Amino acid sequence: MRIIIEPDHVAVACRAARLVADFIRGKPSCVLGLPTGSTPLGMYRELIRLHRDEGLDFSEVITFNLDEYIGLAPGHRQSYRYYMQENFLDHVNIRSQNSHVPDGFTRDFEGSCDLYEQAIRDAGGIDLQILGIGSDGHIAFNEPGSSLASRTRIKALASETIRDNARFFESEADVPRLAITVGIGTILEARRCLLLGTGSAKASSICAMVEGPVTAQVPASVLQLHRDVLVLVDQAAGEQLQRRAYYEEVERVRQLLDAGELRQLGIGKP
Ligand code: PGA
Repeated sequence: MRIIIEPDHVAVACRAARLVADFIRGKPSCVLGLPTGSTPLGMYRELIRLHRDEGLDFSEVITFNLDEYIGLAPGHRQSYRYYMQENFLDHVNIRSQNSHVPDGFTRDFEGSCDLYEQAIRDAGGIDLQILGIGSDGHIAFNEPGSSLASRTRIKALASETIRDNARFFESEADVPRLAITVGIGTILEARRCLLLGTGSAKASSICAMVEGPVTAQVPASVLQLHRDVLVLVDQAAGEQLQRRAYYEEVERVRQLLDAGELRQLGIGKP
């Protein structure tokens, strides 16, 4: 895992957007896996700005969202489809047929989950999976205890998640109890992952993910098994990391290597 600690959530958003923009410029027809929640809002805002001011082109990009609540009416303001339209899709030139969000209003749950997996496969798989993390260590709605090999399916939300997400609803009782979520196995097949974490409420789950054991009790920890993961956090979310000095040193060395400053690394000295 590569760990980058930025000063604050604004810097995380800008860096994440820059990474995604570079990725799209490198592969204009890329397949992105997208998260919802508070954490990626700044990244979406910055991507919209890059589209408007710098012509960042999404016309060939395909997107798959991670999850959707079950039972909210189409167009419900708390549905993740609504969130995506409002906060991102309506403001860039992604074709509507190229943006996918699981169908939370179906009654054919199993069929709809299988179709979602098939659609990801048909698109050639996820090139870059962007993720948030729950205060309970979930990724997408894969709550603690989820199979590390799971595929897209229905999950019951954990009480921490219901409590965390109640802020978006009138009351905790209004938060749906079920969601469709891509699985951990689905996420692990993405070619590259970018996980964002901001704020002190995420400090313990970030620490458990990066420095704890791989365990289904902290679903995000499975990313330790993925070969290309970048964890981008702000100071608050990174504050419990024990080895942060080392992560900062790794970044310093990377920059010197990228700049060809080999002598500063003690290479080539007599
Ligand atoms: P948040 O949610 O960005 O709203 O904190 C993240 C998540 O639950 O994955």
